[in-house]
Amino acid sequence: VHIDWEDQSAEKEGYDHYMMKEIHEQPETFRRVMTGRLHEDAVTFKEFTLTDEQIQNWQHIDIVACGTAYHSGLVGKSILEETLQLPVNVEVASEFRYRNPRLDAHSLVILISQSGETADTLEALREAKQRGATTIAITNVVGSAISREADQVLYLWAGPEISVASTKAYTAMLIALYLLAFYLGDRAGRFNLADHKDLLEALAKLPDQAESLLTEAKKEEIRQHSQALIDADHLFYIGRGSDWAVAQEGALKIKEISYIHAEAYAAGELKHGTLALVTDGTPFVAIALQEKTFEKTLSNVNEVVARKGRVLCLLKEGHDKISDDLDKRIFIPDCLDMVAPILAAIPLQLLAYYTAEARGCDIDQPRNLAKSVTVE
Ligand code: G6P
Repeated sequence: VHIDWEDQSAEKEGYDHYMMKEIHEQPETFRRVMTGRLHEDAVTFKEFTLTDEQIQNWQHIDIVACGTAYHSGLVGKSILEETLQLPVNVEVASEFRYRNPRLDAHSLVILISQSGETADTLEALREAKQRGATTIAITNVVGSAISREADQVLYLWAGPEISVASTKAYTAMLIALYLLAFYLGDRAGRFNLADHKDLLEALAKLPDQAESLLTEAKKEEIRQHSQALIDADHLFYIGRGSDWAVAQEGALKIKEISYIHAEAYAAGELKHGTLALVTDGTPFVAIALQEKTFEKTLSNVNEVVARKGRVLCLLKEGHDKISDDLDKRIFIPDCLDMVAPILAAIPLQLLAYYTAEARGCDIDQPRNLAKSVTVE
């Protein structure tokens, strides 16, 4: 794989690892992915050549990706369903491409890939094109194979991501998916953006809110929470709805770099099996950011606590009153539920980082993993 970037921008700039540098680059990355696209009452993509007829013709959407990029698709699904009022399927590329997916001229397939080179995602793109679907690639690497072959390309402009574990590209993917959903919904005439300025404002606030999650004090708080995880053999992440998608990415991040076995569960599924694994001290990370499911998730947390599990809760500021009984809490700034997954990613990245650091792991180059998987 040829990686086209300046040596200088690839330096660690005083951070111990590229991963920490890239975590810190997120406020700037957020600005870059939105620049020229997010406006006060509109979203534009000058790079797209889609016709209104094409957009109105779609009847279903597939989001296809691998790894962290797949997790961004899980978050993007509900917003695309809402703005385009179409069913959205999210699938890992290595499954999608081998299962004879039903695709035709009424299909939109969105391929997400930081590197733009992942073999399974590339083959899924080729398959989709061959069957007549419209393809949109969301990628970070200009001139990558996926960017060259897709019908439309949305670049993340996140800058080089060196650490194997994806951080800034992931959050940029989430913002890109929201912008895309607003743009396509508006153009399809099914989502009037002028009536949803609050959503656009919520996106515009993200860079500053991300800064507030990266202060030395905030990082120290998360580092301290990580100390409780460093000897864990197993770790569970739970949440509902988009919090579940966030949980899946949180679990992947800690698995990748700290080698702790971590699993994400839909919180409501706990009682259908996983609760049997909870004993004295079993560590959990609970994501409870969505208003709609907050109380339900909290009752799942209580089920774990009742069995002496240890729960670290990720909450929005303002929810501290309701959850006083939970002593381990990390707060993200108060925000619309829609953007909570973007902000939530940052403390979960830091939690994985500090856990891996305390365990003496090779953070930027975890064993057995590659930044870009070009084999099938
Ligand atoms: C590899 C990387 C992951 C990444 C996945 C998909 O497994 O280690 O961090 O999420 O590939 O990569 P892509 O470049 O397609 O987003």
